[in-house]
Amino acid sequence: MPTDTSIPTDTATPADTSTLTDTSADDRIHQNARQGQAPPTRRIDFGFGEVDLPRHFMGDDLVFSHVVAVLSCLFPEGEDFFVRSVRNYRDQIDDPLLARQVKGFIGQEAIHGREHRAFNEALGDLGYPVRFHDARVRLGLGIFSRVAPKSYQLALTAALEHYTATLAEVLLNSDTLQTGTEIEQVRELFLWHALEENEHKSVAFDVFQRVCGKERIRVNVMRFATVGFITALFAGTAASLALDPAARDLPRLRRSFARFRRNPLVSRQVRARIRDYNRPGFHPEDHDTNELLDTWRARLFGPEGELNHRLKGDRAA
Ligand SMILES: [Fe+2]
Ligand SMILES: [Fe+2]
Repeated sequence: MPTDTSIPTDTATPADTSTLTDTSADDRIHQNARQGQAPPTRRIDFGFGEVDLPRHFMGDDLVFSHVVAVLSCLFPEGEDFFVRSVRNYRDQIDDPLLARQVKGFIGQEAIHGREHRAFNEALGDLGYPVRFHDARVRLGLGIFSRVAPKSYQLALTAALEHYTATLAEVLLNSDTLQTGTEIEQVRELFLWHALEENEHKSVAFDVFQRVCGKERIRVNVMRFATVGFITALFAGTAASLALDPAARDLPRLRRSFARFRRNPLVSRQVRARIRDYNRPGFHPEDHDTNELLDTWRARLFGPEGELNHRLKGDRAA
């Protein structure tokens, strides 16, 4: 029986869940590029320096706040690595459409890193061990960059981009997650990031297919990425909680863990979607999220877009 890899939705908005397309591999590669769509660079600023952030900013939930904080701390160094690993091959990309996509990918990731750094500064002021996470990610990815060939570095980016695109899709489909924080800027930061992760979800993958394309490397590196990502998230959350005096309230901590086990981010369908990457012939566009993207693009950056006021300079839908 085929595994169900569709992402469940509990959103009230008419956002469709993605569907598995049956187009050929050649059709899927550069699908967005052929439509002339390169990911737009939106110059956005959430003004985190001015935000009055409570310590447990995810609805006063202990575990969820620490998990989100750790995720945010993984982004800046992680996204710098993604950009370097794609840039290593920039000279070899002779397809002008893919080159435009790469440019858009680099622009989006650079601004993600900047805004998450600003959010992480605010988290650091609250006592979250931001520098510890940052140093850990920098060290781990620095070692990987020294010992692994460039093709493996690119494969790691493609694998982790599948993680970010999957988690982003869950967020865009889940009212529970979208209303998980009362802090407007935190909600907006993650929605904007989720939209853009889906806009560029195929770019690193397509560059890898172009310059290397070995399925064995792609799948083995995904297995390595899974161990690394889960370990970083678990160890980071444990360290973060250990430094939080509120986590010494054991009944509260237990209740919070029990709630997190029902969180849409850790559902069975999400795990199946992550594993789908290991299927021979997998391509990120197999899961068509264009309708979901259109809905959120209009909602966040359309004529009446919720985030237009956060954009600096020209509006880019
Ligand atoms: Fe990103
Ligand atoms: Fe990304």
